[in-house]
Amino acid sequence: LIDCDLPDRSSKDSLRPYASPIERTMHAGEKVSGPNVIVMVGLPARGKTYIAKKLTRYLNWIGIKAKTFNLGEYRRQAVHGYQNHDFFREDNQEAMRIREQVAKEALCDAFRWFDKEGGDVAIYDATNTTRQRRNFIRENCLPRGINIFFVESVCNDPEIVKKNVLDVKLNGPDYKDLAPTTEEALEDFVKRIRHYEDTYEPLDEQRDADLSFIRIHDAGKKYLVNRPGGHIQSRVVYFLMNIHITARTIYLTRHGESENNLTGVLGGDCDLSDRGMEYAERLGKFVEQENIPGLHVWTSQLKRTIQTAQFIDAPKEKWKCLNEIHAGICEELTYAEIQELYPVEFSNRDTDKFHYRYPGGESYEDVVARLEPVIIELERQNNVLVIGHQAILRCLIGYFLNKPPEDLPYQEIPLHTVVKLTPRAYGCDMVLIPLNVKAVDTHRPQPKNVGLHRTREEALETTPSPVIERRGEEAPIA
Ligand code: ADP
Ligand code: F6P
Ligand code: PEP
Repeated sequence: LIDCDLPDRSSKDSLRPYASPIERTMHAGEKVSGPNVIVMVGLPARGKTYIAKKLTRYLNWIGIKAKTFNLGEYRRQAVHGYQNHDFFREDNQEAMRIREQVAKEALCDAFRWFDKEGGDVAIYDATNTTRQRRNFIRENCLPRGINIFFVESVCNDPEIVKKNVLDVKLNGPDYKDLAPTTEEALEDFVKRIRHYEDTYEPLDEQRDADLSFIRIHDAGKKYLVNRPGGHIQSRVVYFLMNIHITARTIYLTRHGESENNLTGVLGGDCDLSDRGMEYAERLGKFVEQENIPGLHVWTSQLKRTIQTAQFIDAPKEKWKCLNEIHAGICEELTYAEIQELYPVEFSNRDTDKFHYRYPGGESYEDVVARLEPVIIELERQNNVLVIGHQAILRCLIGYFLNKPPEDLPYQEIPLHTVVKLTPRAYGCDMVLIPLNVKAVDTHRPQPKNVGLHRTREEALETTPSPVIERRGEEAPIA
């Protein structure tokens, strides 16, 4: 065992070597799976880092604490200034020693992260192309009660590999200081891949039959899944079998301004305002101008999103799980009314908006859970326009932009604005396109004072004022 300067957790007497958040929240009787190391396997430029980053983002979004440990970064810390492909030759003993050392450091960091920060899933992002390296990982994980899942990417399509090298490697950190020409860098990277090919031992159905792994062929043309064990590994398999790398665009928008938006009323199922209807028309024209091949439009089952989609000429689908967050006993009230009727609830929501659940309603955490099928289907699809609601879009954008859960309920998404998301090599670009139709502001930032004993003014300090009075006797809140 490598010495990571950690307390010994391998004792059989200790019932739970690690107690990660996911285990703690699981119900009694459900299989407790313990921490997992996901070990990427494959030649360079096979999408390992892409998969690792994307999987990390997904797991964190669904509430499983995940982190990537990228060996390239550790190597660059240890050796400043990349020279050339010779570093990756099997017979380069000095380089081999360094690579083994950084492989240990990264694994120790993953163990420390499990131990000190209660991590659930560490993604060990390296080539791990030799049996020796994979055995080293197993020998250190298994005695510590850590599960291992291998994710191998095999890609023999030269077009994909070349595109990957051009997309991410030539402008990547290894060539930053050397500033070679594209041809020089490409030649060097191809030689680097050759060195790995010399020693590559792919996972083998017979020899590795006792391991848990998924092998992805040619960016998702085919999969082999062997012995997936436990809740987390099944989720990982499910996710990986649904992602693709075809270029596409995802459009998101809130419904047009509604009658309830004018009065500041939450929830309900009302019609669009006149300006909301104008937005629906502009949206129809915008979609036409964008000329998006094979576009599908998804709405919620609420009238305001269906009305917003009415001028769009594309196949439409209504999803119940796209309905707005349900505010339970606070449905169809304004923020000011909630503060008056349920000041404790109002303060609790301001204190921890992501976890706060309205009595008889939902929390943002609940909404994320019910949106998971939408995310999986968005991953599977090509061009899609989602017409949703304020909280729904916050959760979806939180996924695409990798937002920490606590920031997600405060993401500002104005009405009458199209959000255009374009996936890039390791992430996603977001552009906001306002369609220039006036609308109310429904965004209520977190007030400075969230405590129970705050004044009504302090509680309503950041509340946007409605444009129409809800009841004759009540003046709009300034
Ligand atoms: P590696 O980490 O294996 O060296 P990268 O993850 O840096 O490779 O490569 C990124 C590129 O890989 C992206 O452009 C992405 O489109 C592509 N990619 C993603 N998944 C796969 C896959 N399963 N097979 C091949 N290429 C992929
Ligand atoms: O005000 C519009 C609205 O979509 C309501 O229906 C919903 O309750 C609210 O936004 C969600 O935003 P927040 O979580 O900030 O209250
Ligand atoms: C690297 O150094 O970029 C790397 C992936 O390391 P290894 O091939 O040793 O896994």
